[in-house]
Amino acid sequence: MRAVAINQYGGPDVLELTDLPMPQVADGQVLIAVRAAAVNPADGKWRAGMFEQIAPVPMPHVLGYDVAGTIEAGSGFVEGTRVVAMLNTFTKGGYAEFAAVNASDVATIPDDMSFETAAALPTASLTGVQLVDKAVNAQAGDRILITGALGAVGSVAVWAALERGAHVIAGVREGRADDAKTIGALETAIIGKDWPGEPFDHIIDTVGGPGVAVLAKHLKPGGKFITAATDPIPSDGLPVQPEFFGVSPSGDDLARIVGAVSTGKLAIAIAKTLPLSAAAKAQAIVDAGGTGGKVILTP
Ligand SMILES: NC(=O)c1ccc[n+]([C@@H]2O[C@H](COP(=O)([O-])OP(=O)(O)OC[C@H]3O[C@@H](n4cnc5c(N)ncnc54)[C@H](OP(=O)(O)O)[C@@H]3O)[C@@H](O)[C@H]2O)c1
Repeated sequence: MRAVAINQYGGPDVLELTDLPMPQVADGQVLIAVRAAAVNPADGKWRAGMFEQIAPVPMPHVLGYDVAGTIEAGSGFVEGTRVVAMLNTFTKGGYAEFAAVNASDVATIPDDMSFETAAALPTASLTGVQLVDKAVNAQAGDRILITGALGAVGSVAVWAALERGAHVIAGVREGRADDAKTIGALETAIIGKDWPGEPFDHIIDTVGGPGVAVLAKHLKPGGKFITAATDPIPSDGLPVQPEFFGVSPSGDDLARIVGAVSTGKLAIAIAKTLPLSAAAKAQAIVDAGGTGGKVILTP
């Protein structure tokens, strides 16, 4: 099958279009014929070797967590069923014509949802939902600062927190406060600027770095400070230390997200769709940030 793999860590130019054997399908897994795959910020971090010390990858290694396509083989689904899935975060394999995934991590998608829209969902949306439901367990009325609120993960976290009746304060860049109102946030905080309002019950961070620490001074003692970002947050003098949260694949959570998107309650923007052969360009775009939406690859 055609796939884009890395044979060494490095910049986007280490991504190579190549021919690889079909993925092995283990018991309890299905094989998906991939029609669209998302590029996530983490893909470039794996490619650059950021996780080499804690989780070295075997080469050649196919990146990509998020796929949408049709069931090619495996039990529990009729062949040809339209599906979306988040792949195992260590073995990955999304930048390819076929991908193997646990059947329990798959959700079906309706006929009127495009494969590109579906592929944009898994990692970002699952992270957003799980940050709110699992990591923070947001309650009605909780004042929750969500940083990166206009990004893929943050915007879904805002939706999930509003669903629970939380009072959402969107943490965004200077100049983006008006945009934050369009996603339902009740107040806006500027990352890197002091916060003049009431303190936060909890913080969900998707940005990291010193700008978040400026706001985190205003977290109530005993509140939760959860980060999904990899940029270290200087934590000296903060009332609560940040705690890292990692997303897990879940077919059930994904089915809820697909339902919300198909009924128009939730949307994830797509910035660009490129052919699989342009994976290096796609990752360079995502590495640079400021995309305003997901970048999708089509094999
Ligand atoms: N731990 C996990 O399991 C997990 C899962 C998924 C994602 N992540 C991580 O979560 C982070 C966000 O992912 P994403 O997919 O949501 O990315 P994204 O779509 O690019 O969103 C990031 C958002 O944060 C904003 N932002 C970035 N730097 C900023 C700064 N210094 N000040 C203010 N705003 C800033 C961006 O604004 P601009 O667009 O203007 O730059 C954008 O709105 C990434 O680091 C990703 O690797 C972790």
